[in-house]
Amino acid sequence: MYEASLIDEVLVSEEEILNKCRELGAVLTKEYEKEPENLLVVGLLRGAVPFMSELVKRIDLPIIYDFMAASSYSGTESLGDIKILLDLHSSIVGKDVLLVEDIVDTGITVLRVKELLYNKGARSVKVVALLDKPERREVDVKADWVGFTIPNKFVVGFGLDYDQLYRNIPYIAVLKPEVYTH
Ligand code: IMP
Ligand code: MG
Repeated sequence: MYEASLIDEVLVSEEEILNKCRELGAVLTKEYEKEPENLLVVGLLRGAVPFMSELVKRIDLPIIYDFMAASSYSGTESLGDIKILLDLHSSIVGKDVLLVEDIVDTGITVLRVKELLYNKGARSVKVVALLDKPERREVDVKADWVGFTIPNKFVVGFGLDYDQLYRNIPYIAVLKPEVYTH
């Protein structure tokens, strides 16, 4: 496989991820089974796509999902702001939103998107993230459900990119240092 030459270390295998999606799917089924018609699953493009695709198949409820794209940028203020690049298709007033993220790193994206979804009238906003890197946190925010807590290393695969590449690698890995030089 082409990626074999790029990978230094596999942090989470494909099998572990798929098993975790089953586990989280069962938990989320219980969480939302009382009012599934009120649930909207929202994936953050582009990183959440592979995780979301596995996860929604394991939620045993009639669900609707949508996507949004946001980019955080740090301006003159220490806390980054967020720019919406693609918005949701319909109103979320009164909805229970389940936000699906690839990773909670500094936490700024999740904090800002949660604020935004509440401002748009969501009744509840909960977060499920494939990965959590708590050592990097800059703001006080936590995912409600996390697949795997990882050390402070830059990772790719299962949706996570370096310069838009490597999102399609089917596991979570650390790249060889030489990959970053070109
Ligand atoms: P935040 O710092 O928590 O706002 O995370 C913002 C975004 O940075 C995430 O949604 C990811 O797309 C990206 N990101 C954070 N850590 C990594 C990493 O280790 N690899 C690839 N992308 C990352
Ligand atoms: Mg990214």
